[in-house]
Amino acid sequence: MSNMSLSCILLLCLAVASAFAMSPHLWTKLILTHHWPNTFCSMNPCHHPNVEHWTLHGFWPDVGNMCNNTWNFNSTEIEDLLPDMQKSWPDLLKASSAFWKHEWSKHGTCAAKSLALNSQHKYFSKALELYHKLDLDSILKKFDIIPSEEFYKFSQIEQAIEGFYGVKPKIQCVHSFKNDDNQTLGQIEICFNATFSLLDCEHDISFTGTPGFSVCDHNIPIYYPPL
Ligand SMILES: *[C@@H]1O[C@H](CO)[C@@H](O)[C@H](O)[C@H]1NC(C)=O
Ligand SMILES: *[C@@H]1O[C@H](CO)[C@@H](O)[C@H](O)[C@H]1NC(C)=O
Ligand SMILES: *[C@@H]1O[C@H](CO)[C@@H](O)[C@H](O)[C@H]1NC(C)=O
Ligand SMILES: *[C@@H]1O[C@H](CO)[C@@H](O)[C@H](O)[C@H]1NC(C)=O
Repeated sequence: MSNMSLSCILLLCLAVASAFAMSPHLWTKLILTHHWPNTFCSMNPCHHPNVEHWTLHGFWPDVGNMCNNTWNFNSTEIEDLLPDMQKSWPDLLKASSAFWKHEWSKHGTCAAKSLALNSQHKYFSKALELYHKLDLDSILKKFDIIPSEEFYKFSQIEQAIEGFYGVKPKIQCVHSFKNDDNQTLGQIEICFNATFSLLDCEHDISFTGTPGFSVCDHNIPIYYPPL
């Protein structure tokens, strides 16, 4: 290949790259991930035990990771949200803002490519707003899905959520290696489009997010652990 055609290819690549950089954002879906603290804390050394409601894990665009490494988390910008953040999006591992800093750097900076989410305050307040609007805790209770020694069928949990919100959630469990007849409810994802309307989540999405969790098996009873 001549140097001339090589540089043409390079120019083409640059043109494509800058077209992407100028597009408002590449992602089309936002995944609001809730986790059940008791399940998370059975796998991790938690600083923050005894949380008895579904808490936020993250608010993730479906495409992109670490989109701007110079845009640092700054808790002063979300000072008014901190009481709600502590309750609804607690760092279960540490008494610090490390979790929020991580979520902002990894996912928030990518979500911020949308004008509607282009500041830390917009990003965190929108996540909290959607979390309260969904109110997953009340919905599960309303359908008698309560943390207990009882086991639930996958279809019962899925139908409660899907019936209420009208979209498919992604429901993730921790699978017990010793025991094939048991899986533990760990994480529930609800998806939105870029203008925050509910949207089906994809079950087989390759972006799994969290080590240890995978989509619940439809045929194995689900344990929803009480405190
Ligand atoms: C990255 O973040 C910095 C600091 O907030 C900002 O000035 C810059 O415009 C951002 N870059 C992009 C491509 O968004
Ligand atoms: C954090 O945000 C506050 C409020 O916007 C601002 O005054 C301060 O300079 C920021 N701190 C850093 C380190 O950027
Ligand atoms: C189901 O699995 C969980 C977590 O591995 C465990 O705590 C619980 O005792 C198991 N229940 C049964 C009936 O095996
Ligand atoms: C999100 O979904 C709503 C309702 O279906 C639709 O009106 C809106 O145009 C969608 N937004 C985007 C960005 O696709």
